[in-house]
Amino acid sequence: MKVLFATPECAPLIKTGGLADVSGALPAALAALGHEVRVLLPAYGALAPPPGELLALHHLPPYGPWPEAQLLHLRAADGVEYLLLVCPTLYARPGSPYGPPGGGDHGDNALRFGMLARVAALIGTPDTPLGWQADVVHAHDWTCALAPLHLHQARERGQNAARSVLTIHNLAFQGLVPLEAAGWLGVAPQHQGTRGVEFWGQLSMLKAGISFADAITTVSPTYAREIQGETLGFGLDGVLRARADVLTGILNGIDTALWNPATDPLIAARYDADGLQRKALNRAALRQRCGLSAKVDGPLFGLVGRLTRQKGVDLVLAGAERLLARGGQLVVLGSGDADLEQALAALAQRRPGRVHATLGFDEALAHQIEAGADCFLMPSRFEPCGLNQMYSQAYGTPPLVTRTGGLADSVVDAVEPDGSGFVLPEASQQAFDAGVQRVCATWGDAARWQALQRAGMRRDFGWGPAARAYEAVYARVLGFA
Ligand code: ADP
Ligand code: GLC
Repeated sequence: MKVLFATPECAPLIKTGGLADVSGALPAALAALGHEVRVLLPAYGALAPPPGELLALHHLPPYGPWPEAQLLHLRAADGVEYLLLVCPTLYARPGSPYGPPGGGDHGDNALRFGMLARVAALIGTPDTPLGWQADVVHAHDWTCALAPLHLHQARERGQNAARSVLTIHNLAFQGLVPLEAAGWLGVAPQHQGTRGVEFWGQLSMLKAGISFADAITTVSPTYAREIQGETLGFGLDGVLRARADVLTGILNGIDTALWNPATDPLIAARYDADGLQRKALNRAALRQRCGLSAKVDGPLFGLVGRLTRQKGVDLVLAGAERLLARGGQLVVLGSGDADLEQALAALAQRRPGRVHATLGFDEALAHQIEAGADCFLMPSRFEPCGLNQMYSQAYGTPPLVTRTGGLADSVVDAVEPDGSGFVLPEASQQAFDAGVQRVCATWGDAARWQALQRAGMRRDFGWGPAARAYEAVYARVLGFA
């Protein structure tokens, strides 16, 4: 099958979170099953172009509110084919894919991602500028979610257009813009109402995708159920329930070539389940790098991620003194909400030698924390999938997680015979503090702790099963199954 993978971020070119990891690994896993996959994303100012071969350069004339642009067709050294959408006035800016340095969103994101979605859909029609028409356009998150609507409209016009799959990585981000944008974004009048893109008086790009995609997936089976309920449905649960027949949850995998402690070039000492004593070298290196005391009588806790309430960072902050009182240490890497960043910096300053916080993005340090920490903290309030808890298990670093979304689907609690982590019943302060207590008690029993580490390291989190599940979804939308 010919699959166009439309995404706002893709590792190792540009990354803010897990979607980049997925976009960097799933296309290769699909290609390994024999599919022709091309990855479309904007050529941001901060994007690191992959070394490889330039295959073609295609011109896109101005269209509606959009200036002219180019599609740079590249084949990277690992065989992955990229289509970089080059439009400097929209994308060649400093900062993240979504906003300026320091956070927030660009004011013209509707225009920027409206263009990405339009071009994605175009490649799924006979008007494709590439001489290559996708059979399936696989759109990710709100940024690409207008593509299924465009393809639906193309079919309404009688065109032989691709089928569409929308993957929801986080329902909290919906791409809400004024309804007045509907016309210039290309939403046909009959789809501008509440049965189409309207969401409480605004245009929701994500709702457009949910309403018109031929299939909808999200990144874990538990999250697929949760978003159909009021608590985690973010106002879209009704729309999702109405499409339950085409909605499935597929648990993400991890890139086992990049996240493997036996081969990881970014960590101090490589190790596997039979040489766990070498993990101590990574712990020592991490303590040294972060200025943490080597004299300890408790586990070293690590946290890497967006510093937001979604991730339960406030629970970690509020529970930090009790964690330290049990002999623990804490190392945090992340960026996010200003108040949480400030509170973490203040805690690190107050507790030198016991707490370290690096505010920012640092790929190598992320690997070093996975390898060097004893326990990884992820007490998320909701978590569509989460990747760090899987990295942690692969690195022999039992995670402490909440029973929600993909965390519930990928971590087995220590009370089970094959347990590889600690699962909190809910994201509350009481549950978190009790979880930390349980971690500290278990860590004190070396044999028990090693059994948890080994159970996690034995598990296979590779992309194979997910790639086959996506293949089945593609076959279904194309009417093959
Ligand atoms: P989300 O996508 O919700 O942010 P995930 O757990 O799915 O959460 O993925 C986060 C990814 O981003 C992981 O690969 C993690 O290591 C990485 N990451 C997050 N914050 C940072 C950071 N500050 N520095 C380096 N890597 C980070
Ligand atoms: C989102 C979710 C995260 C998920 C990632 C990749 O950013 O918050 O849980 O792992 O997408 O699917």
